[in-house]
Amino acid sequence: MIAFKGVNKWYGAYRALNEVNETVAAGEVVVVCGPSGSGKSTLIRTVNRLEEIQGGSIEVAGHDMHAKGNDLNALRSRIGFVFQNFNLFPHMSVLDNVMIGPLTVLKRDKAQARAAALALLAKVGLAQKAQSMPAQLSGGQQQRVAIARALAMEPPVMLFDEPTSALDPEMVGEVLQVMKALAAEGMTMICVTHEMGFARDVADRIWFMDAGQVLERAEPEAFFNAPQHPRAAKFISDIRAH
Ligand SMILES: Nc1ncnc2c1ncn2[C@@H]1O[C@H](COP(=O)(O)OP(=O)(O)OP(=O)(O)O)[C@@H](O)[C@H]1O
Ligand SMILES: [Mg+2]
Repeated sequence: MIAFKGVNKWYGAYRALNEVNETVAAGEVVVVCGPSGSGKSTLIRTVNRLEEIQGGSIEVAGHDMHAKGNDLNALRSRIGFVFQNFNLFPHMSVLDNVMIGPLTVLKRDKAQARAAALALLAKVGLAQKAQSMPAQLSGGQQQRVAIARALAMEPPVMLFDEPTSALDPEMVGEVLQVMKALAAEGMTMICVTHEMGFARDVADRIWFMDAGQVLERAEPEAFFNAPQHPRAAKFISDIRAH
């Protein structure tokens, strides 16, 4: 579903991604972890071309995301992206936030978009908040709306960049629960997260990054119990110590 082939990325003279060659199968959940500055955000931002790459290619569902002449908006609309800060439209109700993409980009009719949005809000546990404004919701609720909004575009792939990092601790679980349900339904996902419990329970594979490279890719059990790369081993022992 997603293929990174020889991906290289520079910020000026700084090499942020160094020959990344990885694939994600349909329905697979990959958790990306690694120290701060290792390139995790950069990696997933290259997938929907929030960042350009200087070498290699990235395919999503057979589309070369970085090909010249792409209709970027059309490609982006096919990839769900959830950030640390939910970025809901503050002047729109929760329901309108979820409907706006399908209405404007997918050209759905209003009744259809509304029914789909209400179903998604129910799915993330927020049916009763459809008419609320974002500012009236908790951080965890806003992030669940952001997930519903991304899902409304019916993307084959969802990318998450630290979706729970900006939340108060008591709200982390409700967002992880929604992500877990999505994974169980077979969504293809790449998640950058520090939630190692989630990684252990939900990931099919973990990618460990350092200095712009994916140094290790392993099933959670193997990654946590017997990391192969010394830097992965150090990362895990640091987490345990913490
Ligand atoms: N716009 C930019 N311009 C220059 N350098 C950048 C830019 N964005 C990121 N970098 C650098 O690229 C490297 C990778 O950054 P990135 O944000 O991908 O790391 P990360 O693994 O997501 O870190 P964190 O865990 O702190 O979010 C870092 O050294 C960072 O300083
Ligand atoms: Mg990051």
